[in-house]
This record gives sequence, structure tokens and C-alpha cells, in this order.
Amino acid sequence: MLKEEADARAPAETAHPALEARDLGMRFRGPDGEVALFDHLNLTIRPGESVAILGASGSGKSTLLGLLAGLEQPTSGQVWVAGANLTALDEDGRAAARAGRIGFVFQAFHLLGGLSALENVRLALELSGYGGDGEAAAAALQRVGLGHRLHHTPERLSGGEQQRVAIARAFVTEPRLLMADEPTGNLDDATGAQVVDLLFALNREHNTTLVLVTHDPSVAERCDTVYRFREGVLSQ
Ligand SMILES: Nc1ncnc2c1ncn2[C@@H]1O[C@H](COP(=O)(O)OP(=O)(O)OP(=O)(O)O)[C@@H](O)[C@H]1O
Ligand SMILES: [Mg+2]
Repeated sequence: MLKEEADARAPAETAHPALEARDLGMRFRGPDGEVALFDHLNLTIRPGESVAILGASGSGKSTLLGLLAGLEQPTSGQVWVAGANLTALDEDGRAAARAGRIGFVFQAFHLLGGLSALENVRLALELSGYGGDGEAAAAALQRVGLGHRLHHTPERLSGGEQQRVAIARAFVTEPRLLMADEPTGNLDDATGAQVVDLLFALNREHNTTLVLVTHDPSVAERCDTVYRFREGVLSQ
């Protein structure tokens, strides 16, 4: 069989890495001129792989995650998601590429205040074009152990509960890629451990590719691949 034929037969999902950074660079203009946070950064993540990025505060972990998700544009280089060049798209194009395909869990939860847990999860479905299916949203909240908190607003939930709502919201659209930026950073150790258990369990169930930024080596060790980010260099 010709290589082209073999490529054509391979399912698109497995033919490409889940995520690739090619020669990625990010510079910021500071008071003393331009500062390079990193340059020529290369990273390949295969479908279903879980990757941890460890690094000191200010090393650039969140910036890298934002670039990999297409939330920001790099100064140089490209980000490819499942074989598509995210960097070539404008902001609307990148938002469309993310919708329903990339889920996010942040340190500060980022739930919408004034909306109930159920409404927060339903909104994610609506924004991804899945329609506001109340049953799917309720099922996602039940899966994270919050079936009894559907109508509570974030103000009436504990930090651990809020993060579980955020996890339900991230997984409800069945994204191929999940980005988590210090998901336990605002939680005590015991609550953080429960949230991490849940994150990894859902990741396995959905066979999601996971990129996890953390300060905590014990959380990082649970991933297939662990990178340390230091002075603009990722090393294993
Ligand atoms: N838009 C920006 N303009 C200028 N500098 C920026 C910008 N965004 C980030 N930086 C700088 O880049 C560096 C890395 O920031 P980043 O938030 O990525 O670090 P981090 O590793 O996530 O840190 P932490 O562990 O504290 O969350 C910091 O020095 C920050 O000030
Ligand atoms: Mg950060």
C-alpha cells in the first residue's frame, strides 16, 4: 500500500498528535525592552496522553497553557491541535476551534456568579453549540458528586464544590483536550486530593488528552509525562 493510501485510511484522530508546539516563542515588552519568556519551544503530546508541567512561579506555565489552548497568540512559532494550525486562525476562528473541543479548569474556578451550578454547566453546553440540555448538565454534576447542589450558586458552595462544578463544566462537552492550570491551588490538601482523583478518573473515562500545570510534584507524578519548565526550557 502506498504511504498516501495508508495515511488516507488512518483515522484523522490518531494520524496527528493531539497537540504540538512548533518553535514556539513568547516575548513581552517590559520597561527595559523586550523580554523573551521562551523561544524555539517544541512539544508533542499524543492523543490520550496526560502531561504535567511543573515550574516555579513566574516561569511561564500559565502563559504556555494559554498559547497551547489558543487563548493567546505567540510572538513566533505555531500551535497545532489535532493536525490543524491554531496559530493561523484569527481570534474568532480560534474560539470556534476551542468550542466543545478544549475544556478548562483554573485555580480560581471561574464560575459565573449569580448562576446556579446547573446553569453554569448548561451554559458551557449552549456556548459549544450542544443546546442547553438540562439532563446532560445534571448528569455531569451528579458524576462529580454534586447532585444535591444543582441549584446552589457559587457563593453558596465550598471551594472544593466549586472546583467540582468547574470539572463537570469542563467535561460536559466531551472535549478531546483538557487544560488544567493549578486546579488545586486554592484548595486544602485533602480537598485538593479529592479534586485531583476526580480529574484523573474523568480523564480516563473520557480518554481525554490532559495538560496539567501544577506546583505539586505528587500531582504531576500521576501524569504519563512530567516536564519541568525552567528559564524557558521544558525538560523531562
Ligand atoms: N501580558 C503580559 N505582559 C507582560 N508580561 C507578562 C504577560 N503575561 C505574563 N507575563 C510575564 O510572564 C511571566 C510568566 O507568567 P506566567 O503567569 O505564565 O507564570 P506562571 O509560571 O504561570 O506563574 P504562577 O506559578 O505564579 O502562576 C511573568 O513574569 C509575567 O509577569
Ligand atoms: Mg500560573
